[in-house]
Amino acid sequence: MRILVTGGAGFIGLHVVKILLDQGHKVVVLDNLSSSKKETVDKRAELIVGDIKDTVQSRKALKGADAVIHMAGLIIVPESVRDPIKYCENNVIGTVSFLESMRAENVKKIIFSSSACVYGDPQKLPIKEDAPVNPDNPYGASKASIEAFLQSYHAVFGFDVIILRYFNPYGPGELHDPETHAIPNFIKATLAKKPIPLYWKGEQIRDFIYIEDLARAHADVLSLSGFEIYNIGTEKGVKVKDVIDEIFKIAGYKVAIDDLGERAGDVPANFASSEKLKKAVGWGAKVGLREGLKRTIDYYKNIRI
Ligand SMILES: NC(=O)c1ccc[n+]([C@@H]2O[C@H](COP(=O)([O-])OP(=O)(O)OC[C@H]3O[C@@H](n4cnc5c(N)ncnc54)[C@H](O)[C@@H]3O)[C@@H](O)[C@H]2O)c1
Repeated sequence: MRILVTGGAGFIGLHVVKILLDQGHKVVVLDNLSSSKKETVDKRAELIVGDIKDTVQSRKALKGADAVIHMAGLIIVPESVRDPIKYCENNVIGTVSFLESMRAENVKKIIFSSSACVYGDPQKLPIKEDAPVNPDNPYGASKASIEAFLQSYHAVFGFDVIILRYFNPYGPGELHDPETHAIPNFIKATLAKKPIPLYWKGEQIRDFIYIEDLARAHADVLSLSGFEIYNIGTEKGVKVKDVIDEIFKIAGYKVAIDDLGERAGDVPANFASSEKLKKAVGWGAKVGLREGLKRTIDYYKNIRI
């Protein structure tokens, strides 16, 4: 297939692009490089530097595409709290503009990078796809809004829409600036022998999914059609403090903890049921936390941070 990956220069994008190329697909990346570098894009892919709101560049990138994997977006929750309009303009209006470009080019299949953020504080664990959508920050609201637009494009224009709600991806290649995610910050602090910044004393429960498992899900759902939503998680909730212990075991030493107390907006626990995707395409997470952390620590050891 010829697949357009928006945001393909970013952390998750680079892994998705690689797996698609390895499987023999042709890949075009559309990215404005606002939070990534062109050097991370696989040389086998075609890179078009452009914004999803830019109709000319989007239509150029969409020519002849069989499907779109739509990952472009701003991702920093605290920034979305400070500047909700930026998240609405870039993520929501950007996506709707891009959907119009898709319509103009008659490309009607889209796989969308959504987030467990849309669930907010879940009433039941593990979280299933039919749990209520209750975003509790503007980033999550931008994802929920895009999902609603995608549903309407399925209903009105016959788009095939597959929504993937990621839980907590981690792994090699994650170089966000600023980095707001737990695992890269814990590993970088440990390697630098500095205190680990920690909220809630690490009692929160999360579902950490290794990046290669997450990336594989995108290739696995290419054959699906209609309108479907799938959680992408390991189905195992882990306390954040246990992740730190695991990092210490792998590193062979401990560093101090910088207790940052409580943080508004953090949910106490979330982890996925991924039963639905397992039933649909046989997908399941394969890389356990210890192995994933080992690979991730090796990655950060080998780059300058
Ligand atoms: N990383 C996570 O923990 C996580 C969790 C859930 C969902 N997601 C979603 O997955 C997707 C990828 O996340 P990531 O961690 O790789 O983020 P990332 O910041 O590394 O990558 C996002 C990419 O999108 C590009 N981009 C942003 N706005 C754009 C625009 N208007 N036009 C063109 N390109 C634009 C950026 O330059 C960047 O390369 C995002 O949509 C994110 O919301 C990520």
